[in-house]
Amino acid sequence: MRIIFSLPGSERLGGDLAARLGAEQGVLETRRFPDGESYVRIVSEVGGKAAVLVCTLAQPDEQFLRLVFTARTLRELGASSITLVAPYLGYMRQDTRFRPGEAVTSASFADLLSREVDRLITVDPHLHRHAALSEIYAIPALALHAAPLLAAWITGHVAQPLIIGPDIESEQWVAEVAGRAGAPHLVLRKQRHGDRSVTVEMPDVTGWRDLQPVLIDDIVSSGRTMIEAAKGLVGQGLPPPVCLAVHALFAEAAFAQLAETAKVVISTDTVAHPSNAISVAGLLAQALQATA
Ligand code: R5P
Repeated sequence: MRIIFSLPGSERLGGDLAARLGAEQGVLETRRFPDGESYVRIVSEVGGKAAVLVCTLAQPDEQFLRLVFTARTLRELGASSITLVAPYLGYMRQDTRFRPGEAVTSASFADLLSREVDRLITVDPHLHRHAALSEIYAIPALALHAAPLLAAWITGHVAQPLIIGPDIESEQWVAEVAGRAGAPHLVLRKQRHGDRSVTVEMPDVTGWRDLQPVLIDDIVSSGRTMIEAAKGLVGQGLPPPVCLAVHALFAEAAFAQLAETAKVVISTDTVAHPSNAISVAGLLAQALQATA
């Protein structure tokens, strides 16, 4: 028997998954003590049940300890297994020591999570220098792909699309989405100078002015990558792009700033955000069903 618990920020997706799977929705009480420490209480009976924790990890520093306390309590109370559904998996981008002395947090975070849960299901983790999650996760870790959902959205909403990736890392998503949507694609070249400083090298795209540009990236965080790419396209006379992200982190004023140049900004619901228009709930439910 399966019981699904939603951690704060993932309630809507957790509820959706429970409904789709006909699973019990677990009751979890959690709050912060006045000093900021986490309080966790599992109210539901979990003995012998397969527990699913739904916790998107868009603010991993804030979420991690609460997640660990919940997982450990579930085990103490007799849950037969613990599956973590983290639609967005944080700490995947610091995947090497770019400068001497830096922490390779992708590997450390994977090690920490692998000690707490039995299985991980996520959507489009940022795999760049790590070829697969199994390189850093010691537990079965399933990476689902939103490309078919993005392609279906484009097919239903955009006439004559031109799919564009802002950097080489986005090529994996862009090529697949373009193939599925039957659209041409191109990939720009990005240089990152700092957390909020990016330049995007633009080839001559004036030959594509008759098509509707659709910019696709896995993550929008500071927004600088998408914003610089969008400005470059418009600067060459292309229409304002449709901007599509898998993971809508949108730090600080990124969403408002991108909206100034974009025709529309759309994301999947791996991270709850006003731009969410594509749901990954069906994808996750299918994966959970298969791991029963
Ligand atoms: C990194 O390579 C990713 O694919 C994204 O392009 C990046 O995380 C976007 O970050 P930002 O929105 O801060 O430019």
